[in-house]
Amino acid sequence: MSTILRAIQGDITTLTVDAIVNAANSSLLGGGGVDGAIHRAAGPELVHECRLLGGCRTGQAKLTKAYRLPAKYIIHTVGPVWRSGTNGEPELLAACYRNSVEQASRSGAVTLAFPSISTGIYGYPIELAAKLAVSTVRAAAEEFSVVEEVIFCCFSQADLVIYKGILEQT
Ligand code: AR6
Repeated sequence: MSTILRAIQGDITTLTVDAIVNAANSSLLGGGGVDGAIHRAAGPELVHECRLLGGCRTGQAKLTKAYRLPAKYIIHTVGPVWRSGTNGEPELLAACYRNSVEQASRSGAVTLAFPSISTGIYGYPIELAAKLAVSTVRAAAEEFSVVEEVIFCCFSQADLVIYKGILEQT
């Protein structure tokens, strides 16, 4: 059975799914953007658990509980900072998506939601990032078949239009 991929506009902290992904930094101790929103909504227990994880390298993904969020788990991944695109950024961003789907599958998550990793503070161009996100998640969900539904949770209307266009073409 093939995984359902869809895009919505919204705040990822409000989604009732098995796991949400956080676009974190390598400290895993919180920050701005979606990371800040997730830590605020999950409550202070989240940073306590994160402290025990010893950080996270770019492209890796680590799982925690979701505390006060409606989701069960948070998968923290660290996207690459966009420099020029020739410093391994696409491979690292693909690793974020693949490793996150793998972690979700291992936890038994059937439904999973992603923010648009690296496309905020880290500056990755949205069109390129969204294409890579869709193709990588599609392949990873075949490989790690526990995951049945993946939601790309776009914060802006402009990002939603881009994701929808890519999902319709592919
Ligand atoms: N729900 C869904 N998406 C959101 C939300 C939300 N509540 N809030 C923001 N976004 P960013 P990055 C979108 O900057 O580029 C942090 O400080 C946002 O509009 O959060 O990977 C970390 O600690 C954008 O489309 O993550 C790191 O230091 C997307 O989420 C650094 O930022 C990602 O933007 C990571 O930068």
